[in-house]
This record gives sequence, structure tokens and C-alpha cells, in this order.
Amino acid sequence: MIEFINVSKQFREGIWWGQKKNVQALHDISLQIKEGTCFAIVGESGSGKSTLGKLLIGLEKPDTGQIMFQGSNLHEADRQKRQLLRRDMQIVFQDCYSAVNPRMKIKDVIAEPMRVHFQYSAAEIKEKVKQLLEAVGLDEEAGEQYSHQFSGGQLQRITIARAISIQPKVIVLDEVINSLDVLVQISILKLLKRLQHELNLTYLFISHDLHAVKLFADEVAILDKGEIVDCAHQVKHFDKLTHPASRRLIEAQLPIVPQLAKEEYPVKKGLYVS
Ligand SMILES: Nc1ncnc2c1ncn2[C@@H]1O[C@H](COP(=O)(O)OP(=O)(O)OP(=O)(O)O)[C@@H](O)[C@H]1O
Ligand SMILES: [Mg+2]
Repeated sequence: MIEFINVSKQFREGIWWGQKKNVQALHDISLQIKEGTCFAIVGESGSGKSTLGKLLIGLEKPDTGQIMFQGSNLHEADRQKRQLLRRDMQIVFQDCYSAVNPRMKIKDVIAEPMRVHFQYSAAEIKEKVKQLLEAVGLDEEAGEQYSHQFSGGQLQRITIARAISIQPKVIVLDEVINSLDVLVQISILKLLKRLQHELNLTYLFISHDLHAVKLFADEVAILDKGEIVDCAHQVKHFDKLTHPASRRLIEAQLPIVPQLAKEEYPVKKGLYVS
């Protein structure tokens, strides 16, 4: 469904009065993501994970290489086609507070992408917002409130509702659970899993937490200084991740989290938000 073919991306970085230097954010990335699966990208800070996600949803352009989506080159399509392709891909970020306009009511936050991409009537939007809030486990009344009235976990549910509002095919999840406490992380993962099955979504799951990846993803690639250094086509085969960068990430995990997560989170047994 998605294919990166020899994709590279450089940035010019530096303070305005100082010398600028080139940063190779991604180098010669090739990967394939199958429809309906969750592909995880794991790496240390600055390894290029977010850049990869931004390239996929069209927020950045590759310097070289191609990104194919359902047979079309994402960055060579004409304006109209690009607009349609954009609709198929959404992103959810770690920092949900800055991803939501604090002056907007939640119902308008969720409705925003629908207003951009579809010509729904006011009544249709109202009904869809209600359904979306329900789908992510929130009451209709939440629509009348503002972002500061919610916890991080609730607000992340709202950004997920916004992301699915225009029926995308792919969602980039950029460290979506990392600022939440462990139990809330698990409930968000359950929600995402349920939505993935119900809506046949394909996920690019960006994380530096290998335990969450093991519980949630189907495939994993390890990114180190902009390059894919390791991958496992089945996440259960973590023992196949032998590159020093992968070992560093595996050894950096807290041992208590997976035990808790395994009990609370029976992967792929039909999950529903409690
Ligand atoms: N818009 C930009 N301008 C200049 N440099 C950038 C830009 N975006 C990313 N970079 C640089 O590219 C490299 C990769 O950044 P990226 O944000 O993709 O890493 P990351 O793996 O997502 O890190 P983190 O885990 O901290 O979010 C970094 O060195 C970063 O400073
Ligand atoms: Mg990042």
C-alpha cells in the first residue's frame, strides 16, 4: 500500500547569525507497509522518525527517492490528486495540547477537517461529531467544552476522533502515547486497535518505546541517525534485532511495563474500550 523507495531528506540547520550546516535527517530509506497493518518506526531522539512521518503525509518533500501510495507517487501527483491523497492520510502528534486550538470548542476541533474536505450540512456535522465522540469513548457534552478542560488521555482521544473524521486510510501516530501514564497509554492503544479493525486503518506507529511496539505493531524498523539499521517483519521476533542501536533501545526499557501491559492488553483478541 505504501512504499518508500531510496528516500533521503536533508535539512539546513543553524542559528541565523551562526554557520548553517546540513543535517541528513533520512538517508536512503526503503520500506513497504501493507494495508491494514501497523508498521512501527523506532529510534532514539533525532533519528529521523518524525521526518519520515511528515514525508508520508506530505508535510515535507523528499530530496531524492519516491514515496508511493496505492500506486501513485505522492510528491509528483497534481494539486487535485494531492488534495485527495492528503484526505487519505492523517497524523496524530504526541503533544495533544498544542495540536488543538484552545479557543475552539471540541465539537469545532473535530469538525474542522470535515469542513475542509467535505460539504456536509450543519446537521450532518453535528451528528457526525456525536458519533465520533462516541467512537472514542467520550460523551456528546464533551463537544461543548474546551481543550483545557480535558486530561491528556481524553484530549488524545479527541485528536484521534479528529483524525478519523474524514475516513482516512492511513494514520501516522507520532509518539501518541508517550506523554501519558501507563494505564492511559494502554487504553489509548486499545482504542487505536479497535478503530484499526473497525475502519481498516493502516498505521505508521512512531515510538521510542519498544514494549508498546511489541504489543501494538505488526512490523518494526529501527532508525538510527537517519538510516534503517534493523527490522523485524514480525514484532514477536525481537531477538532478530541485533544491531547495536536496537540493543541499546531494548536494554533501555523498564522491565515492569510489559508484565502489566500483557495482563491488561490481550493483543488481537477483539479489543474494546472499557
Ligand atoms: N524542519 C527542520 N529544520 C531543520 N532541521 C530539522 C527539521 N526537522 C528535523 N530536523 C532535524 O532532522 C533530524 C531528525 O529529526 P526528527 O524530528 O525527524 O527526529 P525524531 O526521531 O522524530 O526525534 P524525536 O524522538 O526527538 O522526536 C534532527 O537532527 C532534527 O534536528
Ligand atoms: Mg519526533
